[in-house]
Amino acid sequence: MKIALLGYGKMGKEIEALAIAKGHEVVLKINEHNLNDLTLENLRKADVAIEFSTPHTVVSNIRMCFEAGLPVVVGTTAWYEHFDMLKKECEEKGQSLFYATNFSIGVNLFFHFSKQLAKMMKHYTAYEVSVDEVHHTHKLDAPSGTAITTAEGILSEYPAKSSWVNQIVTTEHPAADTTANSAELLIRSYRTDEVPGTHTVYYESEVDTIEFRHTAHSRKGFAAGALAAAEWLPGKKGIFTMNDMLSF
Ligand SMILES: NC(=O)c1ccc[n+]([C@@H]2O[C@H](COP(=O)([O-])OP(=O)(O)OC[C@H]3O[C@@H](n4cnc5c(N)ncnc54)[C@H](O)[C@@H]3O)[C@@H](O)[C@H]2O)c1
Repeated sequence: MKIALLGYGKMGKEIEALAIAKGHEVVLKINEHNLNDLTLENLRKADVAIEFSTPHTVVSNIRMCFEAGLPVVVGTTAWYEHFDMLKKECEEKGQSLFYATNFSIGVNLFFHFSKQLAKMMKHYTAYEVSVDEVHHTHKLDAPSGTAITTAEGILSEYPAKSSWVNQIVTTEHPAADTTANSAELLIRSYRTDEVPGTHTVYYESEVDTIEFRHTAHSRKGFAAGALAAAEWLPGKKGIFTMNDMLSF
């Protein structure tokens, strides 16, 4: 398979290594220094694009892939306010887009079980639920897309919370913010060193704490999921995400 990498930073390089090891060919690599190479002609040399760039560049890159008729797998986060518009454009133009806030299989299991846990915990009102995410200091967005997906899963099963609110914290898991509206699910974002991504759901009561955590040890899990999506997507039309590819 011929792959165009739109975004050739930490994730783009991880995906390239895995793609080559699996016998794929990377025919285009775009970063901020060679944007002149990002043309319809070059995009059309690929079978699929994998987009891990920045929240500011992802929307125009997706549109270029639609224009080139190239299926696109999108890992970049923090563009979802444009989602409805791009979904409409994708469907009208008969194109294909696969997106995920997190491509790791383990995180998608974590999403699934966190929803099951919320379904059980909604009966135990002594517990306050919250979500913590820890990432490296280069991460541009907060809260992480993964934390948002986790929070949305909890909200769908937990009637006591109706929306989420984000707090940037300077120590890991500080005491709960007593000013937070109790109908809001608190997401704490902490940035430190080179952490690839740790997400924890807390249920805390006066007498104990239940923690449910996913810890990424490297970026390899994200890269493997994105590549699996790129192998799965060509030939399909419309909008897809991990639930369409995985059977849970
Ligand atoms: N969905 C997931 O599983 C997942 C996992 C990890 C990271 N991410 C997200 O992926 C994105 C990229 O992460 P990263 O760690 O590789 O970041 P990074 O900063 O290491 O890389 C970003 C790259 O985009 C390039 N770029 C800038 N402008 C561009 C343009 N117009 N077109 C193409 N490329 C351009 C930069 O030069 C850089 O090479 C972030 O939004 C991050 O949150 C998602």
